[in-house]
Amino acid sequence: MKGVVLAGGLGSRLYPLTKITNKHLLPVFDKPMIFYPIQCLVNAGITEIMVVTGGNYAGHFLQLLRNGSDFGLRRLGYAYQEGEGGIADALKLAEEFADGDSICVVLGDNIIEGNIKKAADEFAAQGGGAKIMLKEVHDPERFGVASVAGDGKVTSIVEKPKEPESNLAVIGIYMYDAEVFNICRELKPSDRGELEITDVNNEYLRRGNLTCEVLNGWWTDAGTFESLYRSSTLVREAGANRMDI
Ligand code: DAU
Repeated sequence: MKGVVLAGGLGSRLYPLTKITNKHLLPVFDKPMIFYPIQCLVNAGITEIMVVTGGNYAGHFLQLLRNGSDFGLRRLGYAYQEGEGGIADALKLAEEFADGDSICVVLGDNIIEGNIKKAADEFAAQGGGAKIMLKEVHDPERFGVASVAGDGKVTSIVEKPKEPESNLAVIGIYMYDAEVFNICRELKPSDRGELEITDVNNEYLRRGNLTCEVLNGWWTDAGTFESLYRSSTLVREAGANRMDI
């Protein structure tokens, strides 16, 4: 399995910080934000990663990450997203890099405490389809929200529902087979003008090959001032679990 970190978008919710660099290079405690999703993939045993970014500061990623050897990567690729057409629009750019392999996609502003290795191994054994990761939150209306039946199967996913049917957020870590790129090609922009990752996940759900797992340990995004602040605090308190880079 290969890894894809999506780090495009303008980060406008973090103005003026993002007027001078890309959101995913802002500090989360003592590391640039993007170190965390990269380390998450490395911890799952992934050695080939593509970073998709965009905007005015794309060059900063190359200065920081260079060829990825600090993370022990065998290959680090980059792609440039024009505009901010959504998460699934950014993902499309990884098709050649994936080259028919399955992928683990991590949003560049998502940070977890634990390890997704077990979920990645289970996904590999599932023989195709997709796997999403869920986490209970107190503010589900900010996220994609999944309803899960008694047998543990997802029954629906709604993007930022006004009246959420559950408190299970779909976190920004997704595992897909190569079919994902055909699905992305068929997507239509949502009301907010983006190609939505929730529509991708719903297509796998419709096809009957979507599994889910509830994440152990904390999870946060870091795309607002409140969540950016919280992520630094969580990483600082996690102490011993932190990466060595
Ligand atoms: O954090 C998890 C949530 O992320 C999910 O629960 C939602 O279902 C999913 O839609 C997403 O919601 P957000 O509205 O928080 O996504 P945001 O627009 O903040 O984008 C998250 C990351 O995706 C961002 O840090 C970089 C990447 N991205 C986003 C856009 C819009 C891109 O690479 N390109 C883009 O055009």
